[in-house]
Amino acid sequence: MIGSPLAGASATVDEARSPRRRRVLVKVGGATLEDSAQRQALAEDLAAIGDEVDLVVVHGGGPQASALGQRLGIEPVFRAGRRVTDLATLEVVALALVGGVGSELLAALLAAGVRAVSTPVASGRLLRAQRRPKRVVAGEAEPIDFGEVADPGAVDGRLCEALWAGGFVPVLSSLCVDDGGARLNLNADSAARALALGLSVDDVIAVADVPGVFGELGRTETHRAALTPSEARAMIASGAVKGGMIAKLEELVALVEGGVDACWIVGAAEQRPITRALRGEPGLRTRIGMRAEAP
Ligand SMILES: Nc1ncnc2c1ncn2[C@@H]1O[C@H](COP(=O)(O)OP(=O)(O)OP(=O)(O)O)[C@@H](O)[C@H]1O
Ligand SMILES: [Mg+2]
Repeated sequence: MIGSPLAGASATVDEARSPRRRRVLVKVGGATLEDSAQRQALAEDLAAIGDEVDLVVVHGGGPQASALGQRLGIEPVFRAGRRVTDLATLEVVALALVGGVGSELLAALLAAGVRAVSTPVASGRLLRAQRRPKRVVAGEAEPIDFGEVADPGAVDGRLCEALWAGGFVPVLSSLCVDDGGARLNLNADSAARALALGLSVDDVIAVADVPGVFGELGRTETHRAALTPSEARAMIASGAVKGGMIAKLEELVALVEGGVDACWIVGAAEQRPITRALRGEPGLRTRIGMRAEAP
């Protein structure tokens, strides 16, 4: 175990009895990986914990997929902060996530000394998925058909366990494959939620281009240091939270209600945001937990 670096992190009774290492899932948003200097800083922050915990990284790539689509004449469409994915958009998402962001993050992590292995979350049937039926979502009157989009299914953790046993760090894009072999897009926050529950992860950190949730985006004084699930839901219902933050909060609330002690949304531009959150050091971030307590 790693003593000081994670002294502020939660510990369970089960863990005290079992020899298994602390499992940490870090979800990294696409926007935070666009700038190469910031990408490298995040990779170095991840390197600081990579030897000490069983680390799994899930990355998004929303802005990169939108930018590549626009270069190809395909405009992005969103409903309730989630991308609508027709077949052409799926092609773009696969190229942008696996070929683009995944390989860039892989390069940054390798340069930082992390033995990273970059692959879609479908690899080795780590995360199974089905096509999402039409569904009712917050803020939309009619059920929405999201197209070539996945609902996450069962997790078979053996790929991660084999990589961890060999001293490697899985770095996962959220591209899914259903049982019939069709590729499907999945919001990276949804992939992170499914994996965190399926792998019984101890700590979940979502790195975003904002240092957490604001009552009003752009007004620093409205920053929320801590949110309970009911407070998070109220912020979605009131319209204070918009875009991709809706999906993120929904998934983090599901994690906390699913038994994860607490999750954090941290800002990529902060100093070493991942290790500071895990150590419980002061910093601008939002903690989502059942109890309203200091981050
Ligand atoms: N009230 C709010 N507080 C904080 N962020 C908000 C709020 N309302 C909307 N947002 C937006 O949510 C965005 C984060 O979600 P977004 O889906 O864009 O990023 P991500 O999930 O980190 O990345 P990716 O989708 O690539 O995985 C922020 O950039 C911010 O503009
Ligand atoms: Mg998002």
